[in-house]
Amino acid sequence: MEEIYKTLPQHTYSWLQGRVTLYKYEGSWNAQNFPKKSILAQSYEAQPGDILLCSCPKTGTTWLKALSFAILTRQKFDHASSSPLLTTFPHDCVRFLENLHLPKIKENPSDLPLLGTHLPYSSLPKSIIASNCKIVYIYRNIKDVIVSYYHFFRQIVNLSEENAPFEEAFDDFCRGISIFGPYWDHILEYWKASQERPDRFLFLKYEDLKNDALSNVKRLAEFIRCPFSVEEEKAGVLENIIKMCSFDSLSNLELNKSGMYQADEAFVLERRLFFRKAKDGDWENYFTDAMNEKIDKLIDEKMSGTGLLL
Ligand code: A3P
Repeated sequence: MEEIYKTLPQHTYSWLQGRVTLYKYEGSWNAQNFPKKSILAQSYEAQPGDILLCSCPKTGTTWLKALSFAILTRQKFDHASSSPLLTTFPHDCVRFLENLHLPKIKENPSDLPLLGTHLPYSSLPKSIIASNCKIVYIYRNIKDVIVSYYHFFRQIVNLSEENAPFEEAFDDFCRGISIFGPYWDHILEYWKASQERPDRFLFLKYEDLKNDALSNVKRLAEFIRCPFSVEEEKAGVLENIIKMCSFDSLSNLELNKSGMYQADEAFVLERRLFFRKAKDGDWENYFTDAMNEKIDKLIDEKMSGTGLLL
């Protein structure tokens, strides 16, 4: 099984000085160990109440996991003092479906029906596709995703901005060569599935969640079958959850500033890399006019007719 990757199309990132090579497996790009992980994930047996938090990397996955976890555990913990999110990295509070074969970390605080995944819709376990489980999909302005992706990987391999040309990272992303990419295909697959079963899907846009957290977190809670009562709303429970899961709160917790995250058996990452700036429009500091035009055209071409604005 380990050898599958040798037969796959591959691409080495020259902007990362050749330190990362991606392989195309079942239509999307990923690391060398991915085919094995994807095959193992297929054995997952969906449970009736499962809630799947789906996304491409760098679109707000960490935030969505924290919010969903906080919503579902709010009766159990006081958010100001005892929430596991104050002591446990969000990705360890809500595990990735594609990592379930790894041992659970000791401090994993609860067995909620929540799972995260970056898997494309077509690579989800058959039992999930056939089930009625709820699927929340978060997506984000592609321009900011590109910038976020660039910094994430540049820092993983310890390169300065001077030594990691952004233009090349941009070009690779536009060619569709990004982890779990092409980015637009990832979104389109989920979107098409949602057209057939709208009741199963909630699409959340990162920017909307930021600009109108109250109504979008309410929507999220309703969708994952844990709506806020009038009393809770009056008592400010919704606001407290939003505050606890905000970028400022999470990124300032010592546990998220230091310490490592076992992303899978091959990768151990610094937790702080999951919290960078969380700023809308950071792309303006990196894109030339030509890049901007190119990406606008691409998005027009790929996303027209969906009503989803990237
Ligand atoms: P930037 O690199 O633009 O800062 P993911 O969780 O899918 O890997 O996405 C990471 C992006 O989400 C990063 O964006 C990160 O800073 C931002 N992020 C992390 N936690 C967040 C939070 N609580 N609220 C808003 N954005 C957050």
